Amino acid sequence: MSKNIDHLPGNKGLPVVGEILNISKEGVKYFENRKEKYGEVYKFRMPTGMVVGFLGEKAAITLLKNHGNIVNIGNATKDLLGPIYPNSIMLMDGEQHKKDRSILMQAFKRKALSEYITKMPKILEQTLEEIRDKKNIKVYPMFKTLVIRITGKLFFGIEDEVFLKKVNEAITPMGIAMVSIPVNLPGTAYNKGLKGRKYLSKEFLKLAAQKRKHPGNDFFSKLCIATNEDGDTFTDQEIVDHLLFLYQGAYDTTSWALSNLVYRLSKAPEWQEKMRDEVKHIDLKNIDLHTILGLKTSTMIFNEAMRLSPSVPLTIREANEDLKLNEDVTVPKGTKIWVSMTMGMRDPKHWKDPEAFDPGRFSEDRQEHKKCPHAFLPFGAGPHQCIGRVFAEIIVKMMMTAILKEFRFSVPDNYKIDISEFPIMRPKDGLPVQFEKI
Ligand code: HEM
Repeated sequence: MSKNIDHLPGNKGLPVVGEILNISKEGVKYFENRKEKYGEVYKFRMPTGMVVGFLGEKAAITLLKNHGNIVNIGNATKDLLGPIYPNSIMLMDGEQHKKDRSILMQAFKRKALSEYITKMPKILEQTLEEIRDKKNIKVYPMFKTLVIRITGKLFFGIEDEVFLKKVNEAITPMGIAMVSIPVNLPGTAYNKGLKGRKYLSKEFLKLAAQKRKHPGNDFFSKLCIATNEDGDTFTDQEIVDHLLFLYQGAYDTTSWALSNLVYRLSKAPEWQEKMRDEVKHIDLKNIDLHTILGLKTSTMIFNEAMRLSPSVPLTIREANEDLKLNEDVTVPKGTKIWVSMTMGMRDPKHWKDPEAFDPGRFSEDRQEHKKCPHAFLPFGAGPHQCIGRVFAEIIVKMMMTAILKEFRFSVPDNYKIDISEFPIMRPKDGLPVQFEKI
């Protein structure tokens, strides 16, 4: 395949590892710089082979929506996801994907979401407890613990805090392993990820056996008896693999979304006050889905934080056929194409002063996000669009409400967040924030 994209401009990078170290270091800037240098389509090497970066105007939406089945995700992600998250939904295409996704969707229907909302305040309270006796807190690890608890308790019915801590410890290296150099030797990042997977797979299989014998009301138990329209049920291993990926899907992404909001609101105290004004009288124990989703200021702030620093800046697809990417470039069938969701979200053609944190751009008067249908893609689009997007919005808004009602928070004036952007955004220093009780 590589000889067929030889004609494209680009940089092969180092032998074997290619550009992975540069991408890990530079994140989205890597792609912006290459776009400036080579144009919107160019090649680069990953440890798994040569790939194409595609940063054109309509790139993301065309490939993500995938009308005409021009690309697949299974082959595209199998080298990265396959060893750590085999059988996951992001390795599936076509009918198989549709069937499995429709079963997983049961965890995200309105009824299920409404149930989670009633259970959430107790879990949020645990996190608040951790802030109350401290003034300076690294919020990113705090939010990771929160998301592990929420997902563990609500989806899997896991109440044991010691086990949840172990899940947290196992899942972090799994995320890192997906984009590390795939060398399985003791001590490598890849090896640690595989170990994490082995541990969680073993523990979750034990749990599956228990749930089959004594089903609870959680999603894990429901999956054990769920059938698709053909009457097929999942095997225990399939259930475990799906659940592990749901955990991964929720984990870094939502922890970053929360950290991102705290950072942006620390830097823009006027918006912090506006959001506080909106939520200060909310009783979280008696709130419903409709009210949460209808919070106007909070929604604008959430969207704007996601626009500026989306948790998932990039994704990958593979061409199912020779594919014309733009007027000048056609890539052959089998080419792996990296797609940036970030480019359109910062394009001055679509957004006024795009680098500024300006939640008002999502207001009813301005609606900048509606000017271009493919400019705002924090949760992707098309068949693989994020299955947990509403759930993530609920977690973020409820947690932020709980914090804003009790605390003012800030970072020093000269503090600038240093983000590791690949594959999921995270603050390198854990994001230390000062909390002050109101
Ligand atoms: C702010 C938080 C989140 C962000 C920004 C986010 C972002 C995304 C994006 C961009 C995709 C599409 C990837 C692609 O097309 O290649 C995706 C897919 C996915 N997300 Fe999320 N996500 C978030 C939270 C969650 C949560 C809370 C869950 C589950 C509880 C979840 C589960 C998934 C799953 C299972 C997929 C794959 C769907 C499929 O392949 O059909 N995500 N997410």
